[in-house]
Amino acid sequence: MALSAGGIPVTMTCPGTILITGASSGIGAALSAAYACDQTTLVLMGRDEERLAQVSAACRDSGARVVTVAQDIADIGGFLEELSNLDAQWRFDLAIFNAGIGDTRAPSQQIETPQQILSLLDINLRGPAVGASLIAERMIARRQGGAIALISSVAAFVPLPMATGYAASKSGLNAFALSLNAALRRHGITVSLICPGYVDTPMSARLDTFKPFQMKPDAAARAIVACISSRRTFAIIPKPYAIAYFILKFVPARLAVWLSSKFSLDASPYRSQGLPIADLNARAAACSSTKSDNT
Ligand SMILES: NC(=O)c1ccc[n+]([C@@H]2O[C@H](COP(=O)([O-])OP(=O)(O)OC[C@H]3O[C@@H](n4cnc5c(N)ncnc54)[C@H](OP(=O)(O)O)[C@@H]3O)[C@@H](O)[C@H]2O)c1
Repeated sequence: MALSAGGIPVTMTCPGTILITGASSGIGAALSAAYACDQTTLVLMGRDEERLAQVSAACRDSGARVVTVAQDIADIGGFLEELSNLDAQWRFDLAIFNAGIGDTRAPSQQIETPQQILSLLDINLRGPAVGASLIAERMIARRQGGAIALISSVAAFVPLPMATGYAASKSGLNAFALSLNAALRRHGITVSLICPGYVDTPMSARLDTFKPFQMKPDAAARAIVACISSRRTFAIIPKPYAIAYFILKFVPARLAVWLSSKFSLDASPYRSQGLPIADLNARAAACSSTKSDNT
């Protein structure tokens, strides 16, 4: 049986032309390897051109045709324009919105700053939501079906006192993905929402905490590919987190909040800030002045 570079049967990994955001690191790099074979064209997005080039070289070695694009998702206008041009040229069969940041409150902070929250919502929620809508619109117009996958997190399901922005961004992404799925069903376009637990990547390496059932990126990529190829609407990986999700449904919100308020962790500073900090400060100031105008 022919296997992709990620050791996955090619029959599961050959939807033709595939967009992967956040391909320069972690889960996205592992997904790129998983899909790399001589029947795929991979459009790999990230910001770090050097790491993108390394990932693309490995995918080319496996026979894939690869295009790399350096684009900051926090620049939403530029991101949409880039996606539109790329889809006009490559006509994606599958678009995986995986890029994300996992910022948390620093130990010295009582709460995350407005700038951190803005950045998390821009990169983890606004970017993938508007990007998926744009691709969906174009897939509908082509009338040939297609698939969209959104990489969320189990952080969407629990109150996280040290990561309020991250939890909100992923929770919003879940609501968006399930609604998009309902909207696209009659067009033959599948939407898969995948919520991983801990995965051993630079994002989780910053967190100084116990990481139960942590997966290796290639194992996470294999599970994600299996969900997409079987057209799963919603999946939590690995299984123990799916069981925990089921149990959590019976825990009253008040108890969940009280329990999570006892939880704390240390995280090293985040290496990527999304928008330039000056831009974020300006936007946060604009938000505050609008608020005071309204009061
Ligand atoms: N690791 C975990 O434990 C875990 C658990 C649950 C869910 N997830 C989710 O899985 C996804 C991938 O995370 P990961 O663990 O693989 O993290 P990672 O190793 O830090 O990779 C994040 C990727 O997102 C890209 N990215 C970040 N900000 C961006 C921006 N402003 N514009 C464009 N690209 C940007 C990065 O590109 P550059 O490096 O080139 O900037 C990188 O390719 C995220 O959505 C994350 O929330 C991760």
